[in-house]
Amino acid sequence: MEQVKFTQMKDGDKEDYDFLTIHEIEYAKGTADRLLRALVELDESLSGYKVTRLGHSLQSATRAWRDGADIDWVVCALLHDIGDIYAPYNHDEYAASILRPFVREQCSWVVQTHGDFQMIYYGHHVGGDQNKRDRHAGHPYSSF
Ligand SMILES: [Fe+2]
Ligand SMILES: [Fe+2]
Repeated sequence: MEQVKFTQMKDGDKEDYDFLTIHEIEYAKGTADRLLRALVELDESLSGYKVTRLGHSLQSATRAWRDGADIDWVVCALLHDIGDIYAPYNHDEYAASILRPFVREQCSWVVQTHGDFQMIYYGHHVGGDQNKRDRHAGHPYSSF
């Protein structure tokens, strides 16, 4: 069997779906490699900053590493802006969705909400809500 027998999902049988599950497991093993290749694309993404998004990601991960952060934090720091490639308007949520199956909840939550927290620095300059982070006040993973 090289392909499923069906052309519509409703017509697939157990043999088809067992076959696809094997392929899915093998494909998932390549997730880290695909993400690292995507990370390189950040060198060509948002311009205007003093460092590329790839440079920023490497800085973030390096700082986390030097601070003694564990692997979940380092990975999240490295990939926190990976969503810039395909989801420029909700890049934080996109990145968190990618990372959630692989890291602990606290880390994926921080990735998911980092866009809200950083608004404190520039929200008032771009017509946004500078205090957007306040919606997370009191959350167990919030810093305030
Ligand atoms: Fe970001
Ligand atoms: Fe960032």
